[in-house]
Amino acid sequence: MDRATENELLEELAGLREARSFYLDDAVTTSPVARYTCPERFARERQALFRTLPAVAAHSSELAGPDAFLTRDLAGLPLLLTRDGDGAVHAFLNVCRHRGSRLVDEDSGCRRRFACPYHAWTYDNRGALKGIPHGAAGFPGVDREALGLKRLGCREAYGWIWIAPDGADAPDIDDFLDGLAADFAWLDAGSLKIVHDDTEERAANWKILYEGGLESYHFRIAHKDTIGPFFQDNLSSYRMFGRHIRSILPRARLDAEMALPEENRSLRRATNLVYSIFPSSQLLVQEDHIVWIQSLPLAPDRTRVRLATLAPADTDTGDPETARHWRKNHGITLRTLSEDFAIGESIQSGLLSGANEALHFGRFEGALDRFDRTVEAELAAEN
Ligand code: FES
Ligand SMILES: [Fe+2]
Repeated sequence: MDRATENELLEELAGLREARSFYLDDAVTTSPVARYTCPERFARERQALFRTLPAVAAHSSELAGPDAFLTRDLAGLPLLLTRDGDGAVHAFLNVCRHRGSRLVDEDSGCRRRFACPYHAWTYDNRGALKGIPHGAAGFPGVDREALGLKRLGCREAYGWIWIAPDGADAPDIDDFLDGLAADFAWLDAGSLKIVHDDTEERAANWKILYEGGLESYHFRIAHKDTIGPFFQDNLSSYRMFGRHIRSILPRARLDAEMALPEENRSLRRATNLVYSIFPSSQLLVQEDHIVWIQSLPLAPDRTRVRLATLAPADTDTGDPETARHWRKNHGITLRTLSEDFAIGESIQSGLLSGANEALHFGRFEGALDRFDRTVEAELAAEN
């Protein structure tokens, strides 16, 4: 992002604040509660969004060196990500081609070869089938080349590892980011590393958790004991980039920032940015670090959420003072987001009560409606 854009976004919010106004869409909208409860819709969403669109599978620092590997479950898709000896990243289904056992059980490590725990069919980290015990007697004539690990399209870009869950070719990330490529270059996530990460399961539909990151209406209320006092009341703006949303949430220090000469103002110092990368990742961007929130649907009313704090790669976590700083930072993030997720669970628990046929989105909650319409458009395109 260039300085002119940073300044334009700051001016827009400062103007709204001065006018005691809000970033308003045209109309109040609604979202039927069945969107969050219906099992049949859930299955369609999982297929059309999570099994079809490119997804961030990992941060580059999680596959740090040659022969590193990690395993993930991405909305029911078992993944094995590897970095080969030449530094190239590969994505495979973590499933043996013999009789389908999970190939690798560990979360991560460093290895060139993987032997299946069932009968020890062995694959290298480029996916080739290298060994079949008693193969000459038991599998004469079997086409070993065709029985390499099932490969998914995969690309490393802007510090992230992206996959094509539908088995298509390596995704074109600039195309997928739909106008956000310059922002991703500006974020420079490749210069960061994950210093803390936590995964939890929450009893709420994935969209409810995602929607909680798209408005600031609740900040002063739901986050009154944590981050609320550091933000402007109900003030935020957003822009759509294709399916994705960039939200800007000004901090209390917006006024102090606007008092600086234009060339000294910093959007990252004066605001939090949230990049909602459809459908599963939200990047909460702060002055010197990024929090990656990944919501993966397990059931209509169940979502696995991973929260990772990314700090500058030269962060010396061996230094007690530095380690304490990032631990504290991650702790505040966990506390704040568990306020959001607890409310998400409370919403989910009331959906089937009959109190609401639909949820209501105010004019300053316009990003929620845009997000929901994006979901609908993807489902319609799938049909
Ligand atoms: S299932 Fe993997 S070797 Fe048999
Ligand atoms: Fe929140």
